[in-house]
Amino acid sequence: MQIAIDGPASAGKSTIAKIVANKLNYVYIDTGAMYRAATLVALQHNVSLVDESGIVALIKQFPVTFKIEDQKQLVLVNDQDVSDQIRLPEITNNVSRVSALPQVRQLLVKQQQHLASQHSIVMDGRDIGTVVLPQADVKIFMVASVTERAQRRYQENTQRGIHTPLETLEDEISLRDYKDSHRKASPLKKATDALEIDTTGLNIEQVSQKVLKLIYNKTNI
Ligand code: DC
Repeated sequence: MQIAIDGPASAGKSTIAKIVANKLNYVYIDTGAMYRAATLVALQHNVSLVDESGIVALIKQFPVTFKIEDQKQLVLVNDQDVSDQIRLPEITNNVSRVSALPQVRQLLVKQQQHLASQHSIVMDGRDIGTVVLPQADVKIFMVASVTERAQRRYQENTQRGIHTPLETLEDEISLRDYKDSHRKASPLKKATDALEIDTTGLNIEQVSQKVLKLIYNKTNI
């Protein structure tokens, strides 16, 4: 079974995808974390963010893996836990450049498809329903207003000890939306057969119930 969840930054995809995967006992795959990890490795190794083949070589040398520990999903590179590091503003502000590189996408999409062939999965990202898993059993496109998404990221950041003003986050989210939807390689786009959920004004419980209902309606699990 393949459940694809796409949508813009901070629309609530990963929170909901984790809850849904947990409930259904499926594996959760955070594809944004893979692009973030590639950005981190490039910065750590002083490889320019426009050096496509250099970054591809690094991803091959240091592949991303996921591991569950104490019910938390960790993102590992070279067996090092980078879960927190990949959320730092330096990565968030540079990841759009790396995720726009076609060869990087090609390689990570292949890895994502391989992961999806091994288990029943819930996968979130920008191009899961359109490119990575066009045959997914259920496709969800999650949206929310920019203001609400900035507020969610603000709270998330505060918990992590990152203090970026709300207005800056709004600007960053708008800019990332623009870049994600206007890049040449696999831009953020709703699949024609995706079901759209606007999460503005809804809490986590309400959204996860909505998503689970859609999944139960669309499949016979
Ligand atoms: O969901 P996120 O904020 O962690 O994603 C990080 C970046 O990676 C974001 O700018 C868009 C990009 N991305 C992508 O291009 N394709 C995906 N499948 C997932 C994320």
